[in-house]
Amino acid sequence: MKLQDKVALITGGGSGIGRASAILFAQEGAVIAVSDVNEATAAETAERITSAGGTATVIPGDVSNTEGARTIVAATIEAFGRVDILINSAGVATRHAPEGATFDEAWDFVMGINLRGTVMMSRFATDEMKKTGGGAVVNLSSIYGLVGRPSKITDGYDPYTHSKGAIVQLTREAGAKLAPDGIRTNCLCPGFVHTNLTKGISESPETLAYLESLTPMGRFGQPEEIAKAALFLASDDASYVTGAALSVDGGYVAQ
Ligand SMILES: NC(=O)c1ccc[n+]([C@@H]2O[C@H](COP(=O)([O-])OP(=O)(O)OC[C@H]3O[C@@H](n4cnc5c(N)ncnc54)[C@H](O)[C@@H]3O)[C@@H](O)[C@H]2O)c1
Repeated sequence: MKLQDKVALITGGGSGIGRASAILFAQEGAVIAVSDVNEATAAETAERITSAGGTATVIPGDVSNTEGARTIVAATIEAFGRVDILINSAGVATRHAPEGATFDEAWDFVMGINLRGTVMMSRFATDEMKKTGGGAVVNLSSIYGLVGRPSKITDGYDPYTHSKGAIVQLTREAGAKLAPDGIRTNCLCPGFVHTNLTKGISESPETLAYLESLTPMGRFGQPEEIAKAALFLASDDASYVTGAALSVDGGYVAQ
């Protein structure tokens, strides 16, 4: 068991990479605070964990505003007394912006959840980690935090790309600055992964084939493959790793 008795707070825990991480971490002995803006899907994840003999509680909340993030961390402390691991998996794609949103509104929407949410959750959770001698934060960046998008799918001003690039820098900044507090901060840079986030694009056979053709391994990843990398970064196996951006992308950024 790599995470015996650790308390893991996982945002976006109701779906995709967050859900797969919650389930895997519970199998590795962690108790899980499953947080999501969607309470019903978070409850489903928690039910899967508890019905397999694990421990989980549901913490509904919106990471995109300061009070929401503060409340999620406070509720985790109330439930389990501490937080050892934070996985910042709550996130949206630009096409999830409210219908009819202007460019400015869509930009604020994406940055608010992906970047602001990651920053606020990290601040409040690491304040708690400092009290107990340390912890580990894993942020979800993307291949598009490391490289630009193909011109076919962007006009050059996509806030998703902006938010994911900033998460790499947040990771470096926090990774270095919080090292003396025993807190490691790393990020994952996944390629295309089959989750609800990519459903809208992978449902089109032409788009799926195009995106697969951009990936050296020729396929999308599964959320469980990202969760295994999150487990590495969250566990003592990564005891000398901080401020790093780990690509888990079928070779996308290596080409
Ligand atoms: N799927 C991919 O191909 C891929 C690739 C690279 C990076 N990522 C990143 O990984 C993370 C997880 O993505 P996923 O593919 O599992 O997506 P997903 O859509 O399956 O899950 C994201 C979860 O975040 C939740 N969420 C959205 N807004 C929220 C908010 N304001 N507050 C709290 N929760 C909120 C959603 O309800 C959902 O349950 C995201 O940050 C995403 O950008 C995904």
